[in-house]
Amino acid sequence: MAEKENYLLTTKNVNLFYGKKQALFDINLSFPKNGITALIGPSGSGKTTYLRSLNRMHDLTPGVKVEGKFLFHNNDIYSDNFDLVDLRKRIGMVFQQPTPFPFSVYDNVAFGLRLGKKISKHQLDEDVEKALRQAGVWNEVKDRLGANALGLSGGQQQRVSVARVLATKPDILLLDEPTSALDPISSRVVEDSLLDLKKEYCLIIVTHNMQQAARISQTTAFFNDGRLIEVGKTREIFLNPKEEETQDYVSGKFG
Ligand SMILES: Nc1ncnc2c1ncn2[C@@H]1O[C@H](COP(=O)(O)OP(=O)(O)OP(=O)(O)O)[C@@H](O)[C@H]1O
Ligand SMILES: [Mg+2]
Repeated sequence: MAEKENYLLTTKNVNLFYGKKQALFDINLSFPKNGITALIGPSGSGKTTYLRSLNRMHDLTPGVKVEGKFLFHNNDIYSDNFDLVDLRKRIGMVFQQPTPFPFSVYDNVAFGLRLGKKISKHQLDEDVEKALRQAGVWNEVKDRLGANALGLSGGQQQRVSVARVLATKPDILLLDEPTSALDPISSRVVEDSLLDLKKEYCLIIVTHNMQQAARISQTTAFFNDGRLIEVGKTREIFLNPKEEETQDYVSGKFG
């Protein structure tokens, strides 16, 4: 099928258990090479759980069982021969709270690059600048690259966190409520930088903010009770959903 080849990441029949408690039920969802997919749904519906399964973050939590297929470039990321360090570079994660390390802005972005193969100072400078530009924060930090990243505003810290992930040249960015800890103005600035990235990257973003989902995503997936209720074009999901549950949620009846 031609359509299938356009997907960078395809998940099939995903079930996930925290001990005996099942948290995800038979999720089938695919992500195109470029663009933004929003994952929406009420608290506890499984959005974070699903997002974290996409780069094997649950590997670190004892008692979690993940089932299903996760095809990335047609390889299953859960197969034994998949290199985890490589996976986390190619599928990077940005968290809800900005998470800069307590070092300089420059070192925050250079961190992942220095873990890899040897790289010259000149190349490092170039890559750091490129990542900060892509994350839309270069102009604000270019004169304070040596300053501690913790001294930046929340919105700047979050864009530096995005730059840190971008520096390792991922294909996919996973973002779990990346603007929920920010004021509305900083949120919009972060949103704008995400919009710029969608041309080149596959972004998967969990958000509680419906306006945000509507503004930035092309595709929206609605989760409820660990199930994927509906997925489709963002416009359709918000204006003309097929399922009553989706309609109730997007119109603010619950969640
Ligand atoms: N480490 C864990 N151990 C046991 N249960 C968990 C764990 N993490 C999450 N859960 C449960 O799995 C379900 C889904 O949680 P998840 O965090 O994925 O929801 P969410 O949609 O991201 O919610 P929110 O919008 O509040 O962030 C919930 O019932 C939650 O209590
Ligand atoms: Mg969550």
